[in-house]
Amino acid sequence: MEISPQIAVIDFGSQYTQLIVRRLREAGYFAKLYHPENFKECPSPKGVILSGGPRSVSDEDAPDIDLEHLLSLDVPVLGICYGMQLLNKKHGGRVEPGRTREYGPAELRPEGGCGLFDGVSGSSQIWMSHSDTCTKLPEGAEVIGRNEDGVPVAVQLSSKVFGIQFHPEVTHSHEGKRVLDNYLAMVDDPPRFNMDSFKEVLIESVREEIGDREVVCGVSGGVDSTVLAVLLHHAGAKLRAIYVDNGLMRKNETAEVVAQFERLGIELEVINAGHRFLEAISGIDEPEEKRRRIGDMFVDVFFAAADNVELLAQGTLYPDVIESATSGSIASTIKTHHNRVQRILDLQEQGKVIEPLAELFKDEVRALGESFGIPREILYRHPFPGPGLGVRVPGVVTEEKLAIVREGDAIFMRHLKESGWYDKVWQAYCGLLPIKTVGVKGDERSYEWAVSLRAVTSEDAMTADWVEFPAELLRVISNEILNSVEGINRVFYDISTKPPASIELE
Ligand code: XMP
Repeated sequence: MEISPQIAVIDFGSQYTQLIVRRLREAGYFAKLYHPENFKECPSPKGVILSGGPRSVSDEDAPDIDLEHLLSLDVPVLGICYGMQLLNKKHGGRVEPGRTREYGPAELRPEGGCGLFDGVSGSSQIWMSHSDTCTKLPEGAEVIGRNEDGVPVAVQLSSKVFGIQFHPEVTHSHEGKRVLDNYLAMVDDPPRFNMDSFKEVLIESVREEIGDREVVCGVSGGVDSTVLAVLLHHAGAKLRAIYVDNGLMRKNETAEVVAQFERLGIELEVINAGHRFLEAISGIDEPEEKRRRIGDMFVDVFFAAADNVELLAQGTLYPDVIESATSGSIASTIKTHHNRVQRILDLQEQGKVIEPLAELFKDEVRALGESFGIPREILYRHPFPGPGLGVRVPGVVTEEKLAIVREGDAIFMRHLKESGWYDKVWQAYCGLLPIKTVGVKGDERSYEWAVSLRAVTSEDAMTADWVEFPAELLRVISNEILNSVEGINRVFYDISTKPPASIELE
């Protein structure tokens, strides 16, 4: 399913490229990222932005672009950082290594009245991150902005081609949004991207893609799979929504997911396979082996139920697609992941996999979910890993340990929700530490397990910081857990950042 973008963003590898796409979408333009080598696949974009990137245009194998094709589109082009240097070089200018790497704030002083800087103040903070500099501009090019030292940081290379050395997509460039808006004003296409209009296009294209084939979709109760199932339901799909209870779910989780789907009007097939999963990981304490067994069992159980799949719907999101399409590495960010197993790759080859959310960022999926009336508690639920509590009980998993974690987690979550902290953290959970320590209960010596509470803030789960809860809140939670959860005598609060720790315990 390909929905034509209005703006093509060419990805030269900057850490900010996704942000450019998001800013454009926020401004009402449907934008997508393209690898420099396959950007010709973008059917008639109305504007093209060249992103920044870590490389130097002087490198022998520096990422390049087909300038002839780009200019033949005859649309406004904006090169950012590496993009500007590449455009400058390809137009006949010179780019050389700067003496120092320039990283951080600088000042933009627009000159010559170029429309790109309409309404931008005479001196505006901009954000730089580069080491090369354009030391000579091509013939006919004009400087349209300099920094506080008089060095050119913005150029106009022809009537529709512009280059800026700074990053307008980051908020540290104080008037960056205005610069992008000015660029978009030159684009010969009105803003028309919003979730309501996109939803209609999406439903229509899903309908077309599935025809009258039965669609199978795995449901976990999380945001992506729920929105996916509801989207398919609205598109009139013959839907089989399958939920696998792997015995590693949280307290009451299965019952809650079933009730939610009932409210959403979607019939859910629940497969109770807890005993099979627990048997598969019985006695296993090596984390990757445990994950692998849980993942394999999921595939076995799921595909035994979804026999003869006509079509499998997956909740893949845009960042996953970008990651695999532009860097070729999806595996580097995710631990053993069951989305890419052979069974699914085979189906993909046969054209039997659809990924209807693959154009959307997470917050756009939430907005789509809201427009379908999916409750907030589902849309803003913390992420929960595929292997479930299996990765929150390090070492050998037993029913006793799972029961402890379920009770502790339920108490922790209730307090976070009541105190308003739940929505302020990225993810929080109670895990079990695989140690027994001595304590006192009544007049008796105890020798019991310890639980670990973890709560983190994060942007994308790649890095994370622990949350500084008020001591009083921690005290109340700890007291309740110690007094009501059987089998433990200690509560730890995890104050590890990621890296070096990970968010989950395994
Ligand atoms: P770590 O522990 O690697 O977790 O810092 C980063 C984020 O990924 C989630 N996670 C998973 N999600 N399947 C998933 O769907 C998995 O196997 C998996 N492992 C970790 C984790 O909950 C956190 O949000």
